[in-house]
Amino acid sequence: MTLSRLHRPRRLRRSAAHRSLARETRVHPDQLVMPHFVLPEREAREPIPSMPGIDRLGVGALLERVEADLDLGIRSVLLFGLERHDRKDATGSAASDPDGSQATAIRELKRAFGDDLVVVSDVCLCGFTDHGHCGIVENGRVLNDPSVERLTAVAVVHAEAGADFVAPSDMMDGRVGAIRRALDQRGMVDTGILAYAVKYASAYYGPFRDAADSAPQFGDRRSYQMDPCNVREAVREARLDESEGADILMVKPALAYLDVVRAVRAETCLPLAAYNVSGEYSAVKAAAERGWLDEGAVVYENLVAMRRAGADILITYHAREALEGGWL
Ligand code: PBG
Ligand code: ZN
Repeated sequence: MTLSRLHRPRRLRRSAAHRSLARETRVHPDQLVMPHFVLPEREAREPIPSMPGIDRLGVGALLERVEADLDLGIRSVLLFGLERHDRKDATGSAASDPDGSQATAIRELKRAFGDDLVVVSDVCLCGFTDHGHCGIVENGRVLNDPSVERLTAVAVVHAEAGADFVAPSDMMDGRVGAIRRALDQRGMVDTGILAYAVKYASAYYGPFRDAADSAPQFGDRRSYQMDPCNVREAVREARLDESEGADILMVKPALAYLDVVRAVRAETCLPLAAYNVSGEYSAVKAAAERGWLDEGAVVYENLVAMRRAGADILITYHAREALEGGWL
């Protein structure tokens, strides 16, 4: 039997040097965004049981952590403020408190690290409302326009605290445009918007809702977050947020939605982020703890997959361990 010598893809795989020469996709630390949960008590530190390796941190502990992460090469963070139950109410008023956990964290991080650090601030109400929904509720329904008004107020507070990007994660219609106008009216023309443009109603957010104590107290989020069955709708949502003035678009979750990342990538020239969400993180962690998966190899493979699908920016709880462990 004579085989053709012409078509030998294996020639490019002979050695590590050959493979790295032919490699099409890379993950660089500059592309990683590390999420943080901020506690109201300054020196607090609480592990999150369903997210091993991730702690909720008070601002003091957060500053130390971010400084260490900067040394590793993590130059961007995504912040979620947390509040205790007795501070939650129907409109999530603690979300727009300029002295709340989130605005304080933004201010102190920017004061400490300035332009060495990109601070992205999640804008939502679910961690601050007593009903756990991302907007204003009336007769058991989440209202759109009154929610946008509240979310815009929250975004303004984060921007005034110094956030580089505000990141609305609520999925109300028209909030990107409303936030853009509010920022511009106040002269904050350089504050960007990272839009959770395509956010599905996903069971993969389970551990996050433990961490942030933000689970809806009735019903679910399917009247505002997207149906996992849809991809044309994702392109529509992405176009809308771009036309309303978003600077960066996001698809969330990432791994079960790589086709959506690809579809949105083809439709926009904006930078595209993929959010490797809590449940995706915890599933890998749980399997690795049991010795069923090689954590570093699986994390690398997952992050590469997001990049290959077309994501420029990877928001991932694995960021620190990936760099510490040399997994990339
Ligand atoms: C709040 C918000 C959620 C996440 C980011 N922002 C939870 C939700 O929509 O219920 C999920 C992040 C994760 O699971 O890592 N709107
Ligand atoms: Zn929310």
